[in-house]
Amino acid sequence: MNLGNCNHAVLFSPSYETTGPFPRPSRPTFFLPIVADERVLAFPAKRRFFYPPVSLPSLNLKNILERIVPTKEEEAQLREVVSDLLDSAQRVIDELDVDARPFLAGSVAKNTHLKRAEIDIFVGFSSKTSRKDLERYGLKIGERVVKGRKMYAEHPYIHGVYRGHEVDIVPCYRLKSAAGKVTAVDRTPFHAKYVIGKLKKGQENEVRLFKQFAKGVGTYGAEAKVQGLSGYLCELLVLKYGTFTGLVENVSEWRDSIHIEPEGKAKKRFNEPLVVIDPVDPRRNVASAVSATQLARFIHACREYRKNPSEEFFFPKELGTRSKDELWTEMESRGTHFVCVETGKPDITDDVLYPQLRKMEKVVIELCEDEDFSVLDSEYDVTDGKVILLLELEVWRLPLAKKHFGPPTTNENSSRFIAKWSSSPLALSHPFVEGSRWVVFVKRGHESVEDLLEGRIMELSLGKDIRTEAKRGFRIVEGRRILTKNRLKAMTAMLDKRFPWEY
Ligand code: CTP
Ligand code: MG
Repeated sequence: MNLGNCNHAVLFSPSYETTGPFPRPSRPTFFLPIVADERVLAFPAKRRFFYPPVSLPSLNLKNILERIVPTKEEEAQLREVVSDLLDSAQRVIDELDVDARPFLAGSVAKNTHLKRAEIDIFVGFSSKTSRKDLERYGLKIGERVVKGRKMYAEHPYIHGVYRGHEVDIVPCYRLKSAAGKVTAVDRTPFHAKYVIGKLKKGQENEVRLFKQFAKGVGTYGAEAKVQGLSGYLCELLVLKYGTFTGLVENVSEWRDSIHIEPEGKAKKRFNEPLVVIDPVDPRRNVASAVSATQLARFIHACREYRKNPSEEFFFPKELGTRSKDELWTEMESRGTHFVCVETGKPDITDDVLYPQLRKMEKVVIELCEDEDFSVLDSEYDVTDGKVILLLELEVWRLPLAKKHFGPPTTNENSSRFIAKWSSSPLALSHPFVEGSRWVVFVKRGHESVEDLLEGRIMELSLGKDIRTEAKRGFRIVEGRRILTKNRLKAMTAMLDKRFPWEY
């Protein structure tokens, strides 16, 4: 069903009674009297009989569809490009004389693509092909078809541009069932088949609305940079809940640990915050990339949309970068201290870079906290050939003296502790007893957070490629000096916590 013209969504769900932000029908006081032991007893009747449907505020989704569904001309041109790409791939395969077949996959195959969609061309190799040959020939075919670059995350493929369209050319194995998968992408043809078989006419547009919504609120894409919902996950959710509106209403009601099994039981236990079992492989969670934060943001976005639907959820305004002076005024007014760690951007794909950035953020914060500095907030960004990590600190300067705790006085290590600290140049006092433990005042290694980071950052497990860059050089900058042009965007994002639809 296409909801493009629908102006009112009707709700029957009794759960609205407790959580809905909408006008709630007043609780009816109907009772069904029954007679027992000659006394008349009254029992509350089943609630759902008495709740009239609630009419929700709504948005004319037709306007959104006009902006996201490719026009007839765009679609015709897209199909022409796809056909060219497939022909061209087939020619290269014939020349190389390998047992492989090119086919269209991804959203363009399923008709769930948005305007200016990336085209996913897969090359299915016979299952007899060795992994090495699959990669070698797969990349060769890709390189000859489009001018692009090799992308390595878990699986190698070519990403390029062809007649103005972004194209991925991805090698995979041709298999009988998705459960027999060898590489990460072997399930893809089964996904396309499943979705095409299940989507009802018109439901493609429900998927498109939902994808655009997820994009607008910042949660679309399973890639490491986003940690959000993949296109396939959006399709499965629309299949479960029928329409975009139905889906948003249901997601608004999600609580902890969501577990969805579109077909049959899971064959594995999953601990991720959102679990949607892959209908073509019960051992896989389609939502495994969705982080707890992104899930929470997404549920919140659905609730906010349901309360007050607007185009801003689909097409948010850009967060305008604030000026240096504006940012500095706000930074100063907070009474905290800002520090930036900056190093070169490694030449790797985002899917490898972003997990390393998050790792760097985590270990740097841990180091600060371990040394008694207190981190209030952090933000990372990749900009102008640099990666930057911004830290906001509640405690950034500490005195030289620090209390160092030793073992309990009855512990066999006591004499070692006493010997060490009685003669150490780092000791500021003689070891003494407090409660049942040895204690000594010692000199702190680093009195400022800048000093700590300068001195110890290379000891941290920063992630391989960021570490290599940091070895070549890194900078620690603090306060107003952070506010150079390339860092204003990240600083704005750090200080402005609004959601995209609120900009
Ligand atoms: N895929 C997957 N899991 C992911 C990413 C991709 O299973 N985390 C598979 C899906 O079968 C998907 C295909 O790879 O259909 C192509 O991936 P992608 O282009 O990211 O998704 P699309 O469905 O094509 O959606 P979009 O419109 O965003 O391109
Ligand atoms: Mg795609």
